[in-house]
Amino acid sequence: MTLATAAATGLAALAGAAPAQAADAPLRDLAEAKGVYIGNALAAGKLDGNARYRQIAGQEFNWVTAENAMKWGVLEPSRGNYDWSGADRIMEFAAANGQQVRGHTLVWHSQAPGWLENGGFPAAELRGLMYDHIDTTMGRYQGRIAHWDVVNEAFNESGGFRDSFWYRTLGESYIADAFRRARQADPSADLYINDYNVEGVNAKSTAMYNLVRDLKAQGVPIDGVGLQAHLITGQVPSSLQQNIQRFADLGVDVAITELDIRMNLPADAGKLAQQARDYRTVVEACLAVSRCVGVTGWGISDADSWVPDVFEGQGAATMYDSGYNPKPAYDAVAQALGGTGDDDDDPPGNGDGDGCTADYTVASQWNTGFTGNVAITCSGGSLNGWTVSWDFPAGQRLSQAWNAGCTQSGARVTCTNAGWNGTVPDGGSVSFGFNAEWSGSNPSPDTVTVS
Ligand code: XIL
Repeated sequence: MTLATAAATGLAALAGAAPAQAADAPLRDLAEAKGVYIGNALAAGKLDGNARYRQIAGQEFNWVTAENAMKWGVLEPSRGNYDWSGADRIMEFAAANGQQVRGHTLVWHSQAPGWLENGGFPAAELRGLMYDHIDTTMGRYQGRIAHWDVVNEAFNESGGFRDSFWYRTLGESYIADAFRRARQADPSADLYINDYNVEGVNAKSTAMYNLVRDLKAQGVPIDGVGLQAHLITGQVPSSLQQNIQRFADLGVDVAITELDIRMNLPADAGKLAQQARDYRTVVEACLAVSRCVGVTGWGISDADSWVPDVFEGQGAATMYDSGYNPKPAYDAVAQALGGTGDDDDDPPGNGDGDGCTADYTVASQWNTGFTGNVAITCSGGSLNGWTVSWDFPAGQRLSQAWNAGCTQSGARVTCTNAGWNGTVPDGGSVSFGFNAEWSGSNPSPDTVTVS
């Protein structure tokens, strides 16, 4: 058994240093060179609390979407009282990082305020409220939001209009009305219709196609179609590129707006490799159609993703693991965008820990305690079962660990894999976390070994 060591990078990570894995240029530079953008969905509340989140969000992506902060229910929870704090924070972050913004979303049946959805408003009044909301929200950020999702999720799975409070009260005319109003409210924004399960050619995407065709024929201002792309590992629709192309042929742009590719948990090397191929397929399909303008991921890391909350037993859907380490999917996207990536296709190593390193970071710290994260990454090697150890330099005491079994004896902490995360393939990574107590100071260990 050999030992691989890595200098602890806890302080460096807190200070915002680049991750050791980033051999390529950031994704945003690779994407720009290819003539597309690469974006992600940001949670306003995480930008100020999580240094690694903020670092990845700023360095890797040149477009951002507010994951929730620009939804009507967040903006106007009670009638007439707008709260712009989260939306403004996203705008400020984007400006500070030279990023463009996708506005998400103006007219949607979900995450609408209760007073609106359940208000029993007659048609004329509901239309007026819709117009006011479009005017107010687009007006506030006029000229600063490049794309707006004007209407979100207007269809049901069989290709009819979704039976939403919008449709029940106003009929399908609400869609054209929303687009016309949006054009007036901010003539500089590209106006999108956005939906899920419309990535391949199917009944729902065909309904969307027919609507866009009809709106264009009627002179309704619509500039783009958003394919959310909440996908499942191994199930990227084979007609994705063909579907992007048929929308493009209508004379609209196409964007992949909410990409995540989930799997049944726990993740393993095979699933992560399949997921990497799937991410690559999606990016390549966009690159193959000149009117496909960019790809936006939905959540920076697996720790930020909505998937585990909504799809029971599923997760690991983003390009970064929950310790904010790039996954094979990240490398695949980098490669699709013309970078070298790590070579995930290397034959697996002999499992002895050569080529594997452990990075120790302090994820958060308070007056008496802190949460640490240790990420094990293999490149040119692999692990079948692992032990990670370090000496706490300043009397820190471990209190709890997750995703690993940890014990402390004196200063020495020794952690071994849980039942489900012992395998680290070449090009893969796993991470575990712990809570510990500190007093006086909380320096990171000099050396963390993995074997
Ligand atoms: C999701 C967010 O990610 C969650 O945080 C929130 O609880 C629910 O909404 N389609 C959309 C997105 O258009 O706005 C949704 O985002 C995911 C599905």
